Amino acid sequence: MNCVSFVAAIDGPAGAGKSTLARKVANLLRMRYLDTGALYRALAFSLYSSQVSPEEGPGMEAAIAGISVEILENGLLLNGKEVGKEIRSPLVDSIVSSYAALPSVRKRLLSIQREQGKHGSLVADGRDMGTVVFPDADVKIFLTASDEVRAKRRLLELRERGEDVTYEEVLQTIRERDRVDSERSTAPLRKAEGAIEVNTDALSIEEAVAALASIISKRKGA
Ligand code: CDP
Repeated sequence: MNCVSFVAAIDGPAGAGKSTLARKVANLLRMRYLDTGALYRALAFSLYSSQVSPEEGPGMEAAIAGISVEILENGLLLNGKEVGKEIRSPLVDSIVSSYAALPSVRKRLLSIQREQGKHGSLVADGRDMGTVVFPDADVKIFLTASDEVRAKRRLLELRERGEDVTYEEVLQTIRERDRVDSERSTAPLRKAEGAIEVNTDALSIEEAVAALASIISKRKGA
């Protein structure tokens, strides 16, 4: 085991419960947590709000260079302002993948993510943690659930926040995000070699946290 740093890389499709579970597991095992989806959401939100369309070109390069993203212990600063709920809206759900598919967007966020893995122990979740950002991660997990279960969970989450959306809309957005995330040529969503697959369809949050914690702590103690 590497004593300087320990990285647990968690990947999976939209709404598989990665952020909820990864955050809880990190707390339980006293590790830091990195929500890389929040970085892509923040960048996409900023570009979209500045009316920069999701296409590569000089306009995109300039716009990206002008955005500052900083990771806080419990959140994210976008251009010096803390962001939260606004990057988890149905609107951002529907636009984020087209920005995340762009090599310039991914390149901008790569070093920020890798920096987080250099010290202490980290749980990082996203789409390319085990394949691109942390290919040497100490443990890799691929978290899945059926489309329908993922849509139901996401619907509950959005309704709790007072968003007016239907099950069909949520299911369609999830499927479309998975399609774009899996089919893009740069860092597509896929199970990393050696990743342990965990399907959460039949698991409660507590059961899923216990399953992940057991996988990670076994590797940590190895
Ligand atoms: O929580 P959920 O699975 O719904 O999404 P997220 O983790 O917040 O990620 C939002 C979007 O950001 C994804 O659909 C991807 O398009 C993009 N993303 C990515 O491309 N690479 C990552 N490492 C993390 C997120």
